[in-house]
Amino acid sequence: SPSDPDLVERARAAKEKLGDKVFVLGHHYQRDEVIQFADVTGDSFKLARDAAARPEAEYIVFCGVHFMAESADILTSDDQKVVLPDLAAGCSMADMATAEQVAECWDVLTEAGIAEQVVPVSYMNSSADIKAFTGKHGGTICTSSNARRALDWAFEQGEKVLFLPDQHLGRNTAVRDMGMSLDDCVVYNPHKPNGGLTAEELRAAKMILWRGHCSVHGRFSLESVDDVRARIPGVNVLVHPECRHEVVAAADYVGSTEYIIKTLEAAPAGSKWAIGTELNLVRRLANRFAPEGKEIVFLDRTVCFCSTMNRIDLPHLVWALESLAEGNLVNRIEVDKETEAFAKLALERMLALP
Ligand code: 13P
Ligand code: SF4
Repeated sequence: SPSDPDLVERARAAKEKLGDKVFVLGHHYQRDEVIQFADVTGDSFKLARDAAARPEAEYIVFCGVHFMAESADILTSDDQKVVLPDLAAGCSMADMATAEQVAECWDVLTEAGIAEQVVPVSYMNSSADIKAFTGKHGGTICTSSNARRALDWAFEQGEKVLFLPDQHLGRNTAVRDMGMSLDDCVVYNPHKPNGGLTAEELRAAKMILWRGHCSVHGRFSLESVDDVRARIPGVNVLVHPECRHEVVAAADYVGSTEYIIKTLEAAPAGSKWAIGTELNLVRRLANRFAPEGKEIVFLDRTVCFCSTMNRIDLPHLVWALESLAEGNLVNRIEVDKETEAFAKLALERMLALP
């Protein structure tokens, strides 16, 4: 939908007034009305890497969700201030692993006698506390674009991996990309005593998957894939690795948001695509590539937007930019120093992956 011209003008004016003092980052799942003001757009890896690209910018306005803004704060200098235009833009997946639950899990692994063999690998979609836990215990962060490399690295450091909080990314990477079997994976449920696992099960497992998932990607089903193939003959199914294992196993292509965009850029005219990821991105890509004769549809019409990504809308962005232009620092995301030090260790291990 077209954005309100008055708000567009206000955002433009505030951004112009701020000049080099502001750097706006936008995740691919953001609304069109917001993404048009981003200086850089990207997947979560690219945004983590690029957050520090403008050391002269006093403010980094992060159009994305809370864990991304925390990561940007961790990876930039102390005098750069990260702003999240709506503080309610969280991530339900990141909320599925709390520091307390993860500490309890580590006790369970210690009790089972395997903690020394376990390397934690945490998905970017986690709180700074979880990233700090990961750094403290010799682990790394990964995103959907480097999960394979992160797991290869982790299995050079130890025999087992505790993967959190997205069970699907962990399972899909281990099984689809690395040839492990489903039996090599167990699921740790933080709501059950001992994670719902026996010590024997923990000892036998190679991948201990945290019982977390994305509420958006978790809704695509094998039926979605079968239906779209029946409806559109010759369609290529391209999905994000946060989708469930049976969806990923049935898909033709699997990858991060950046991979999805690159794949469609390289696709020939006349090709047909069904995309299983967040709707703002799919709509934008469908509009962008329609003139080139590429037909792009949403994998399952009953799945909706990521509601927290969508919280960052043009009114919130205008409010944040105008406040900053008037010298009011609003909605700052600041990770405490101790958490930051350990979380940074884990993030830097990711950035150093081959
Ligand atoms: P990527 O952009 O890294 O593919 O991540 C997807 C996601 O769900 C972010 O919340
Ligand atoms: Fe979290 Fe899923 Fe939304 Fe990404 S799409 S922010 S993983 S709920």
